[in-house]
Amino acid sequence: MFIKKSLTVAATLAAFGLSQSALAEKFDFSSSAKKADSVVVFQAGDEISPDLKRLDKQSQSQISAALKAADFSGKSKEIVELLAPAGLNAQRLIVVGLGEDTKLNAGDVNLVGASISAKLKGTKASDVQVFTQGVSDSVSNASFAAQLAHGINLRAYKFDKYLSKKRPSEKNYRMVVSQPSKAESRYEKLEAIEAGVFLARDLTSEVPTEMNPAHFAKAAKELKKLGVDVKVLTPKQIKKMGMGALHAVGRGSSEGSRLVVAHWKGSDDAPIALVGKGITFDSGGYNVKTGSSIANMKSDMAGAAAVLGTVKAMALQKAPVNVVAVMGMAANMVSKTSVAPGDVVMTAEGKSVEILNTDAEGRLVLADSLWYARKHYSPKVMIDVATLTGSKIRAVGNRYSAIFSDDDTLVTQLTASGKNVEEKLWRLPLAYGDMLKSPIADMTNLGSGGPGASTAAMFLKAFTGDTKWAHLDIAGNALTKSDKGVSQSGGTGHGVRLLSDWILTTQVK
Ligand code: BES
Ligand code: MN
Ligand code: ZN
Repeated sequence: MFIKKSLTVAATLAAFGLSQSALAEKFDFSSSAKKADSVVVFQAGDEISPDLKRLDKQSQSQISAALKAADFSGKSKEIVELLAPAGLNAQRLIVVGLGEDTKLNAGDVNLVGASISAKLKGTKASDVQVFTQGVSDSVSNASFAAQLAHGINLRAYKFDKYLSKKRPSEKNYRMVVSQPSKAESRYEKLEAIEAGVFLARDLTSEVPTEMNPAHFAKAAKELKKLGVDVKVLTPKQIKKMGMGALHAVGRGSSEGSRLVVAHWKGSDDAPIALVGKGITFDSGGYNVKTGSSIANMKSDMAGAAAVLGTVKAMALQKAPVNVVAVMGMAANMVSKTSVAPGDVVMTAEGKSVEILNTDAEGRLVLADSLWYARKHYSPKVMIDVATLTGSKIRAVGNRYSAIFSDDDTLVTQLTASGKNVEEKLWRLPLAYGDMLKSPIADMTNLGSGGPGASTAAMFLKAFTGDTKWAHLDIAGNALTKSDKGVSQSGGTGHGVRLLSDWILTTQVK
């Protein structure tokens, strides 16, 4: 049976002239093979897949001899490429080890897909056939094929706007699978998530002069075409509504702050609010950053990009969920109009804040954004996402994000989703709030040394009222210097897959 890929998501994107990066590679799902220049097969430990057995026979055991010579034993992350394999009528065969396939989850399969994409990058391969039948016991065959395609496509994306050498033209993948229509419909949902990830990556990788708060707001408005309600508040409106902290951070830049709201109302229950830190460039302000610490600060809006990307992912798949993203946008710059250390600002919550360090600006924009989300949307739960502290990187590095919450169930759910999609979370203490005392205002924005990621989280907590809430500190996760996992170098779109998984697994009955 051959199913023509309907590309619902891609077609929707194209119809509205939205980002074409979702079309990085082309996939079709079918139960039958066709001619291809490259062939991919699997081995899970010593479990040789039926297709690998068949092809080995066809090659008169050349394949098994080559695998033996390469010391290949089917372990996870093993990958062997054979060029011009005998008897196969293909230019290359790639044999991928899966390890114990009973232990594979979706995120693991995505990484396997990414390794295939990485292996084929820069080769002449244009038609790739992936034999998934009889592979993987823990995830169904249809899910395996879909998650594989997802991993391949995530890894194939490259932000190439400023490169004279563009990403090579797309490859066509035929996924050979037992239940093609099932695999295809699974993949369509993942394709929507990809589009969300790619949006977050595009926004994060974009250079700071281009990606200012006004430009980010414009990018958010694009989602109106998908039925998302988008609102943008200007500095004047922000000030008028009393959001003095958000306003203050943007005071030193030419365009000032914006509050951007993107609402996908796919159901009638109370919304989930996703709140994002959107510092389009963090110079530190008068507490100016130096050297390498300032170099990557265009990515300080990655939290906002992640929550906007998640809303796009939900809208594209018309998910029956009510999700609102609230993004506090500002460029933290040095100028004659910038806020000065020692200034006191008033938040919309009514709490005054002494700004002892202008580089602790993320918590300031989030304070008013959290307030706005609560005040205007009465959400059943709020998750904020922020590249908030260097302290987080020192505590857990960049292979984890940090989660802070008083709600154990929420922590358990989000941690499970993180594991599912390989965007892992580690819980840190929501404590040390006493370190935020100020002699002149209700609180300062600077904790006294030590647990900086925790004091930042405690600062945020003061603006969450009694709404159920978790804070994700993704500092260090937003950009990658080298190609790794499902990302090439550049913005990672970290958080979109985690939040999408959490929303879809916990909210859709
Ligand atoms: N955006 C930074 C945090 C950050 C650091 C993100 C490195 C990604 C990589 C944040 O605004 C910041 O500057 N935090 C300060 C806070 C301090 C002044 C209390 C920090 O962590 O050093
Ligand atoms: Mn800062
Ligand atoms: Zn910052």
